[in-house]
Amino acid sequence: MSENDTLKMYLQDTKHTNPIGIFDSGIGGLTVAHAVKKLLPHEQIIYFGDIAHLPYGDKSTAALQAYSIKAVDFLLKHNCKVILFACNSASAAAFELIKEYTATRAKVIDVIQPVVNYVANRFDGKNIGLIGTRQTINSNAYLQKINQANKNVSLSSLATPLLASMIEEGFFNNTVSKSVIAEYLSDESLQNIEGLILGCTHYPLIKKDIELFFQENFTQKVEIIDGSFIVAEEVRIFLEQNNLLNPYSTKEDVFYVSDLTKSFEETTKIFFKKKVELELYKLWE
Ligand code: DGL
Repeated sequence: MSENDTLKMYLQDTKHTNPIGIFDSGIGGLTVAHAVKKLLPHEQIIYFGDIAHLPYGDKSTAALQAYSIKAVDFLLKHNCKVILFACNSASAAAFELIKEYTATRAKVIDVIQPVVNYVANRFDGKNIGLIGTRQTINSNAYLQKINQANKNVSLSSLATPLLASMIEEGFFNNTVSKSVIAEYLSDESLQNIEGLILGCTHYPLIKKDIELFFQENFTQKVEIIDGSFIVAEEVRIFLEQNNLLNPYSTKEDVFYVSDLTKSFEETTKIFFKKKVELELYKLWE
């Protein structure tokens, strides 16, 4: 079936009042959920954080594909009109598979392509850095998509495997996070960059520490590229172009997790300025 036919069939069965599903291994996707809510306050969000399988960044491609299928099945049961892969590791490992799997049932959007489009326009002829989990960096997903964009952007990629777990444990904006960040970002490969892609949705939570590190240690200005709003804008454009925007909010957002943790509860409070009730949903009983 052509992409056009898939879109037509999807639009026939999709109501604008259906929710947006957002999926990550844990709190990282909340950075994207927060941006979506800011741009699209009337949309209902169904969030799923697969905390039981965290961190995703060190899992195999096959494992991430299996978790993603289960998570997407769950979001499809909630009739999500869009499913947002708010996780770079899952986007790198499973996005293409999930696109085929959902077919006409939902529109799936990943966090990598929208950021690559932004970078290709803004950093032509320049050097940029990318930090992310082992899964994201080893997959070369960013590099391949940047090459497809046919622009002269040179990319230096660095795996920073400790960062997501550190953030998930609540270590951000403190001395621990500052010294781990300094250790990673002093890497020689990042010395000449003019932009740094935060290639993990957990990292916007340490964006201030990262900015400060570059201000204090680099002579050139380094733009920190946080994909949250870039991706939220992609969702907004898609909904608008297809007449799927929800004009009135009718239902509360719902947050599901595959395991209950204090840090998830704390972080939802930071982003949504209120205590959010968490529902437990296990991918496998
Ligand atoms: N937030 C996720 C990402 O963007 C995954 C972090 C992890 O669970 O390792 O890659």
